[in-house]
Amino acid sequence: MAVKNVLRMGHPLLLQKAQPVTAFNTSALDALIEDMFDTMAERNGAGLAAPQIGVSQSVVIFGVEANPRYPDAEPVPMTILINPEIELLSDATDDMWEGCLSVPGMRGLVSRYTHIRYAGFDPQGVRFEREAHGFHARVVQHECDHLEGILYPQRITDLRLFGFEQELADLAGVEIGPQD
Ligand code: NI
Repeated sequence: MAVKNVLRMGHPLLLQKAQPVTAFNTSALDALIEDMFDTMAERNGAGLAAPQIGVSQSVVIFGVEANPRYPDAEPVPMTILINPEIELLSDATDDMWEGCLSVPGMRGLVSRYTHIRYAGFDPQGVRFEREAHGFHARVVQHECDHLEGILYPQRITDLRLFGFEQELADLAGVEIGPQD
């Protein structure tokens, strides 16, 4: 359908809680999801939430194929997740440098839970759930945060570990992996 403009940090819609989807299997929902995939692919993203293209609905997409440029980025199944819920399966967390298409050119060190279960609906309204670890769990938490109006800089506990990706790559050896 179309590559959409991605809203950047500072736009008030990114701070709003998204509305739950109430009608499944509709052409409007399919069109939204197609726009999201087109936009994510064009920006080479690992995930995207509907509010990032200006639609305040509880829809996220994500997925990472094996990429030789990022050998440490574990593949994540290409997923459409609607009205998601997350359950923590452990208190354990780990830190990783995150990026976001709404915060272009920057990276920050963010702590996320390493083991979760997530549930939600597909575009036909069929409920599913999955367990996720590591990078997969991180991407889901990042995308679901968007639906709560939370951007990753709000999760950074030490703002010295937030900066422009080129400087971080040159000075601190930060790997510039996919962003979402
Ligand atoms: Ni993001």
